[in-house]
Amino acid sequence: MIGRLNHVAIAVPDLDAATATYRDALGAEVSAPQAEPDHGVTVVFVMLPNTKIELLEPLGEESPIARFLEKNPNGGIHHVCYEVDDIIAARDQMKAAGARVLGDGEPKIGAHGKPVLFLHPKDFCGTLTELEQA
Ligand code: CO
Repeated sequence: MIGRLNHVAIAVPDLDAATATYRDALGAEVSAPQAEPDHGVTVVFVMLPNTKIELLEPLGEESPIARFLEKNPNGGIHHVCYEVDDIIAARDQMKAAGARVLGDGEPKIGAHGKPVLFLHPKDFCGTLTELEQA
């Protein structure tokens, strides 16, 4: 069922500094910062030949990554995202396997305009795991 690695999301306290690290030190192609108020983050996409890195900075008071950054003040890997062909079938398969789907269990439209779900880190090797319908 699981497909390509769509992205690895890294929460950062300073998006400009993180962008400069990827652009200048690593020589990566980076996007302009994109505010995602619905998701409480500002994101920069780092384009790699085989996948993407998403640099996430908190946006607004209720940012879902604020607490993560309190615990990880230098930033850190926040989640990984795998592609699936059918998000509903994937959700049902995960539930049947005993995994916890976060929120109300209904897919939300993610940063790429595609349906996504998040799975509880305790069920996935301590890693918050996003599924995106590709
Ligand atoms: Co993501």
